[in-house]
Amino acid sequence: MELFDVYPLYDITPVKGEGCYVFDQAGKKYLDLYGGHAVISVGHSHPEYVKSIQDQVSKLAFYSNSIKNPLQQVLADKLEKVSGVKDYSLFLCSSGAEANENALKVASFETGKERVIYFENAFHGRTSGVVSITDNENIKAPFNLNHNVKKLAFNDAESLKSEIEKGDVAAVIFEVIQGVGGLDEADSEFYKKAADLCQKNQVMLIADEVQSGYGRTGDFFAFQKHGIRPDIISMAKGMGNGFPIGGILIDNKIQAKYGMLGTTFGGNHLACAAGISVLDIITKENLMQNASEVSEFVKAEAAKIPQIKKIKGRGLMIGLEFDFEIAALRKELLFEHQIFTGASSNKKLLRILPPLNIRTEHFEVFFDSLKSVL
Ligand SMILES: Cc1ncc(COP(=O)(O)O)c(C=O)c1O
Repeated sequence: MELFDVYPLYDITPVKGEGCYVFDQAGKKYLDLYGGHAVISVGHSHPEYVKSIQDQVSKLAFYSNSIKNPLQQVLADKLEKVSGVKDYSLFLCSSGAEANENALKVASFETGKERVIYFENAFHGRTSGVVSITDNENIKAPFNLNHNVKKLAFNDAESLKSEIEKGDVAAVIFEVIQGVGGLDEADSEFYKKAADLCQKNQVMLIADEVQSGYGRTGDFFAFQKHGIRPDIISMAKGMGNGFPIGGILIDNKIQAKYGMLGTTFGGNHLACAAGISVLDIITKENLMQNASEVSEFVKAEAAKIPQIKKIKGRGLMIGLEFDFEIAALRKELLFEHQIFTGASSNKKLLRILPPLNIRTEHFEVFFDSLKSVL
């Protein structure tokens, strides 16, 4: 049977990972500044993480959400403690798209309304509701085009105000720092205004932290820097360090009802073991602080390179915008220097999304390689 051919592939076959490195079949070592698309948070095959999953799978990998699973509560309690966000409840699912889809559903249930506002360059996933609020017409099928949604310019409080005041909006959803779209971030004033408008007009504010959350920016959630309180926060990627787990945090003012949300796999025993272990390691190894410190080094070094015109992002969610399109540069970094990096819809922007336990020494290797390619 053939695989349904939807991904253009690099001719590389990683078979092993360790910390910030992956190794191919021939044992060739690659520096991972991409984290498999911002997923690897505590490092590949972290021994404590591996042991947690091994221990859990040898006891019970899965049972349905119709029984008590105390691991879900352990995860929720640790998440509250490590993230510092209070008075939210946790619903667990298995991916970023599913998290956002559930966030939209909660918002619509809560407000009794259906229209959703999203922003230019947004990426929120590929299932029907969330692909309809993703700014990429090429990945929408006719089936996805019937949702009641409105795209607005990012960072434009006036257009947001006039749209919200029409009275039919259920939710405003935004990535605090846009990932796929190219690392743009609105200013605090915009986020505060959006939060205020939502509150006054019974609209749910949804922060999509699928990529920017879980310590990647140096804060647990990227929105925390802006002094706002979203009604719903969606999470995935770094949450399981590669194990598929996602979730939403829902403000306690929103009442749960049986049947309102549901999933077969979400919050299963194995996923919780992975998620708990990730939070333990983030805490023990001070990975948020590490993300901030290493970020300073990267930004200072990047500023010395004349071909880099703009340095975007925060923590270990960094975009380096060059004065040329970077497809060939990325290929050379990968095939000549064994360094994985990321791209975005901005063709001049190199994306850096490494494991959060990366060190400045790793980036010294990157900058030496980058200079030699340039
Ligand atoms: C900000 C953001 N939201 C949602 C998603 C969708 O997540 P998933 O691919 O796990 O469905 C992504 C994936 O790249 C993302 O970057």
